[in-house]
Amino acid sequence: MSAPSRNILLTGSSSGFGKLTAKVLLEQPQNRVINVIRGGRSRAESIFGAESLARWGDRFQVLDLDLASRWEIEEVKNKIRSLCGGRIDVLINNAGYGQLGPISEQDIGKVREQFEVNFFSVIALTQACIPFLRETRGRILNVSSICGLVAFPFYAAYGASKFALEAYTESLQYEVDAWGIQTCLIEPGSFKTGFSARSAQALEESAARPVGSFAEQERSLARFLEAKRGLAGSPEKVVRLLVRLTDEESIPQRVLVGFDARLFAFLHWMLPNVVWRVIMRIAYRKMTGTR
Ligand SMILES: NC(=O)c1ccc[n+]([C@@H]2O[C@H](COP(=O)([O-])OP(=O)(O)OC[C@H]3O[C@@H](n4cnc5c(N)ncnc54)[C@H](OP(=O)(O)O)[C@@H]3O)[C@@H](O)[C@H]2O)c1
Repeated sequence: MSAPSRNILLTGSSSGFGKLTAKVLLEQPQNRVINVIRGGRSRAESIFGAESLARWGDRFQVLDLDLASRWEIEEVKNKIRSLCGGRIDVLINNAGYGQLGPISEQDIGKVREQFEVNFFSVIALTQACIPFLRETRGRILNVSSICGLVAFPFYAAYGASKFALEAYTESLQYEVDAWGIQTCLIEPGSFKTGFSARSAQALEESAARPVGSFAEQERSLARFLEAKRGLAGSPEKVVRLLVRLTDEESIPQRVLVGFDARLFAFLHWMLPNVVWRVIMRIAYRKMTGTR
């Protein structure tokens, strides 16, 4: 078999979009995927199965990194060198989660951790990869969210981390233009992955704290998220988009994915603020059971 011609570094390969994207990319013999999975190779084996790992051989690599913790950029650069000879063609910053809850009372440590994973780790990993991406005139795909464009109640920490990711990515593009590196923001609506169960769990935990003014609303929103999980889109749609963005010669600056994402973005852009706020207040009452 011929040697892989492309190296793709992907975060969040243990679940959801990341896991499915890794599988699709690894079915194409030209790809080597360096998967960021906390827990390393043994966890990767339980996620993908020993048989798949054997089939993919050295085209499947694992970078054991907890994105919530601080790590040295130089150390990660060295690990990337040892895993794939320091060649990176595509960086997909996909890992992330939703620390939902009322920002007027939310645990500040949890808000910081949200930013560590969804935002600061992206900056750090991108800095580690830029020297390699300059060599290949590669690309950076940052998985944002409709929540990076529109703010929703109880989504403040998550939304702020994605708004930050949007501003960061847009700014970064001006710097990396000269090196032939392209960036793209992927902005999904609601899709069936581990995301909403984890978000609902964050709300339940937040509602259980001893003093809280919003416990009932948080529990109602958690139930609402669980109930509407069936209506969310199929994650394969996002996966197909991510795979296509690794291939296309020229990629857009941002892509909304899913009907809900496009509808929210359009209404938010088109409606006068006062009308938007009335709609959101009604939605907030419905989602949180507030009278
Ligand atoms: N699904 C949606 O509806 C939706 C909508 C808009 C945007 N998004 C975005 O899509 C991206 C992928 O999420 P998903 O929907 O695929 O959810 P998911 O199934 O919950 O997957 C999240 C991934 O992020 C990883 N991750 C979280 N914290 C980490 C940490 N500290 N260190 C290393 N990895 C960590 C998880 O690894 P562990 O297994 O180790 O926790 C997991 O692989 C996220 O950025 C999310 O914000 C999702």
